[in-house]
Amino acid sequence: MHKVIYDTDPGVDDAMALLFLHRHPEIDLIGITTVFGNASVETTTRNALFLKREWNIPAPVAKGASVTVDPTREERAWPTFVHGENGLGNIEVPETVDLPLDPRPAHRFIIDTVRANPGEVRLVAVGRMTNLAMALKEDPEIAGLVKDVVIMGGNFYVPGNVSPVAEANIHGDPEAADIVLTAPWKVAVIGLDVTAITTMSRSYLSEIAAKGDRAVKLLNDLSQDYIDFYKHAVKDGMMVHDSCACVYVVAPELFSIISGPVRVVCGGIADGQTIVKPDGRRFPPGDWDGLPSQVVCTGIESGKVIGLIRDTLLRT
Ligand code: BDR
Ligand code: CA
Repeated sequence: MHKVIYDTDPGVDDAMALLFLHRHPEIDLIGITTVFGNASVETTTRNALFLKREWNIPAPVAKGASVTVDPTREERAWPTFVHGENGLGNIEVPETVDLPLDPRPAHRFIIDTVRANPGEVRLVAVGRMTNLAMALKEDPEIAGLVKDVVIMGGNFYVPGNVSPVAEANIHGDPEAADIVLTAPWKVAVIGLDVTAITTMSRSYLSEIAAKGDRAVKLLNDLSQDYIDFYKHAVKDGMMVHDSCACVYVVAPELFSIISGPVRVVCGGIADGQTIVKPDGRRFPPGDWDGLPSQVVCTGIESGKVIGLIRDTLLRT
């Protein structure tokens, strides 16, 4: 079993990934930590509790960061045009959900859970990397105690989605992402190179909903506005960014990779750009020296990934 802490900003594609993690038979979802990003952390936390309640997910929810690790950074507007005013595609969601939160802040929950399960925890982060960076700052030793980190974020050989060179999760807190990517732990980076070509059509999702239970029907309902948003890039369908990272946890063989140190540009015109120095390529001494080599996904078997998501969502 893969013990997973899911760090997330639900978020429509985050919701699909959450149901995937909950339903996959080889995944033991041991915690959900929330972060600002697709909406404020108040909203993403309320959404996590709402989905936990609707889908009977036993994992505790811990509320995380509301701002970037560098407090002098200017706040950015929430992408309501992507995930809706309420972060869940404008379906009806109660203002508050009467379920208890874990009493600890997300980064402390991460530290405690990693320390209680040395060598076992897989951190799957699909929002801003702020909680992970805060956990590392507070307790750097956790880097040697997690099994690995899988993130949805970044873009290497394709354009960004919030600037010509940057992807939303990295651009939303570049300093945090640079801390996470350069720490001495194993990170697998699932970025737009693979997620932007992994799409699910409206009709495919509604066929899943027709076959599935009420959990999948809710997922279908909350995805409709997100699919409308994607019409500029996808023919009547949506990119399933965050689910790709979750699929990597159980089926890394569906991805092709390169490896090398990864850095994030912090500031200026290329703010939030991710750069990999492929192992074996020689450059003059620079910002890559002595950094851990991370896994960067550059190819994906999209059809198989979508099929695995479908089969997993249909399990009850
Ligand atoms: C990422 O940004 C968010 O909009 C999605 O949930 C995903 O994690 C894609 O760039
Ligand atoms: Ca997300």
